[in-house]
Amino acid sequence: MPLTPVHFFSHGSTAMLGEESDSADYWQRCGQAALDNGIEHVVIMGAHWVTTGDSIQIATNPTPAKNPIGGVHPSKYVPYHLNPDLPMCNRVQQLLQSAGFNATPNPTVDWIHDIYLILIRTFPKQCPPTTVLSLNARFDPHYHLRVGAALRPLRHEKVLFIGSGGTVHNLYRNTWGPLLRYADNFAMEAPPGDWALAFRQEMEDAVTKAARKGSGVGLRKAVTGLLKVPRYREAHATDDHIMSLMFVAGLVGDVEDTGDAGSEGVEIGAEDWELTNMCNTQFTFGRW
Ligand SMILES: [Fe+2]
Repeated sequence: MPLTPVHFFSHGSTAMLGEESDSADYWQRCGQAALDNGIEHVVIMGAHWVTTGDSIQIATNPTPAKNPIGGVHPSKYVPYHLNPDLPMCNRVQQLLQSAGFNATPNPTVDWIHDIYLILIRTFPKQCPPTTVLSLNARFDPHYHLRVGAALRPLRHEKVLFIGSGGTVHNLYRNTWGPLLRYADNFAMEAPPGDWALAFRQEMEDAVTKAARKGSGVGLRKAVTGLLKVPRYREAHATDDHIMSLMFVAGLVGDVEDTGDAGSEGVEIGAEDWELTNMCNTQFTFGRW
């Protein structure tokens, strides 16, 4: 099987579950394309579950609950049945351990909206067998890149990888008034801040210029370097929502992906600004 595409999805606020958007339409199209191409497993790294010390965890709770969210009608997520993929959890753990990671199962963790929002929107009819990975709380971009690289061989099988995070995601700098007063997460009373626009462009450039040049390794260098660009800390007050982009770069940025023959290519499938300063871009690397 040719290598499966990999997604980096910006999940945005919880309102992205309740409200219609270009991103929501794109997520659903991606899910349908995956099903049409015979995907049997999803492996997803989010932004909200982190493991301390030197470890990374795999969610092996056979009956995970959903962490509740505010502002979204429960009918939009309570009935959706989560489907943990325990055999694949085991396989992922073994691949990570053989690559030197302290990877352990977590049989009690519940799933958070960074995971189930994306699953519900991407696969609205039914949750595919899914493996959820934690982040490591040291937020080392190279560590998360290597996690993706260790799991890359699964792209030769019927596994769809998703990183769930955000392009510009700083909760301290969002404009919350219109959401709180009028339940309008897309209101924009003023343009986004120059820092938000600047970092959003840095991210597009890092991803698309490397991909256009057909440089897998260049992609890895470009995205890990994002944490050092001048406006980064304004765009990401914490590192959690960019870390799964490193995971994605590990999955798609192999030396095999360098050069014309191996160029993965990247698509920006949709983008929605929420809360004035939160930029939700949806990226797909590779194609069916
Ligand atoms: Fe989030």
